Amino acid sequence: MSDSRPIGIFDAGIGGLTLVKEIHRLMPGENLIFLGDTLRAPYGGRSDDAILAFSLIGAKQLAEMNIKMLIIACHTISSVALEQIAVAVKDIPVIGVVLPGVRAAVLRTAEKKIGVIGTSATIRTHAYSKAIASIDNDIKVYGQACPLFVPIVEEKLYDCDVARISAQLYLYDLIDIGVDCIILGCSHYSLLMETIQGTVGTRIQLLDSALWTAKEAQDLLTALGTLNPQKNGGFSKSRFLFTDLHPDLEMQASIFLDNKMPVVDKVYLGVL
Ligand code: DGL
Repeated sequence: MSDSRPIGIFDAGIGGLTLVKEIHRLMPGENLIFLGDTLRAPYGGRSDDAILAFSLIGAKQLAEMNIKMLIIACHTISSVALEQIAVAVKDIPVIGVVLPGVRAAVLRTAEKKIGVIGTSATIRTHAYSKAIASIDNDIKVYGQACPLFVPIVEEKLYDCDVARISAQLYLYDLIDIGVDCIILGCSHYSLLMETIQGTVGTRIQLLDSALWTAKEAQDLLTALGTLNPQKNGGFSKSRFLFTDLHPDLEMQASIFLDNKMPVVDKVYLGVL
C-alpha cells in the first residue's frame, strides 16, 4: 500500500522548516504542504489561549488540503494545543514534536537528569516534564526558557558572540545541575546546535527534535502503509504557504533549508 498525498506541516512561522529538511533527507519522495503562520509569529511569548486559538485555525485549514498526515512542527503549539488539534482534525493522524525528542532523551540519560530548552510558553506548560514522567517517573527534568534564541537564529547570528553569550546565560544552570541530555525543544534551535554544544561541552548530549520527529513520521507512515511510492522529487513538489510574506521571508526560510530557496505563497487564515 502507498499514498502519494502530501504530508501537512503546520508551524507558527518558519522554524519548522528544520523539520522539512529532515523529512526530505529521510524520505526524499514525500511531498509536503508547509503552512507557517508568519502573520502571528512568534507564538512563543503568547498566552495559551492565543496559541490554541491561532493554531486551531491554521491546523484545520491545512487538514482540508487533502493531506495524509499532519505534523505540528512547532514545540510551542505541540506543548499547548496538540490534543485539541488532534480532536479537531478527526481522522487525520497527527504527531507533534515533543514526544519524539522525549523518547530519544529518556533512552539516553544515564544520570536521569534531562534539561529542556524552549520558548517561554513551552517551558511554562511543563509539557516535556509531563511527557517524560509518563515514561519514567524517576527522571528529573529541568526546563529553561531561552527567548533570545529565536531572534538570534532569524537574524542569522547563530554563529556570533551574541549567540555564545546568550547560550552561557541560559545554559550554565543546566550544566551546574548535572544534566546529561538537553532536548532542543524549539524548532529554531537545530541551527544553534554547534554553539550550544560548544557551551555545554561534549559530556552533555543534545537531542534535536527535528531529526527524531522525522523518524517518527517515517515509522508511522510505514506502519499505516502510506509512504509515498516516489523515491525522489518530494521537495520540488512541496508547497510553502505563509500567512504573511514579509520582505525577509525567503532569505530567512533559506537559512533553515541549507540555502535552498523555496517558492512561497500567501494563504489567508481568516479574521481573528
Ligand atoms: N516555532 C516555535 C517553537 O518551536 C518558535 C518560534 C515561535 O515562538 O513562534 O517553539
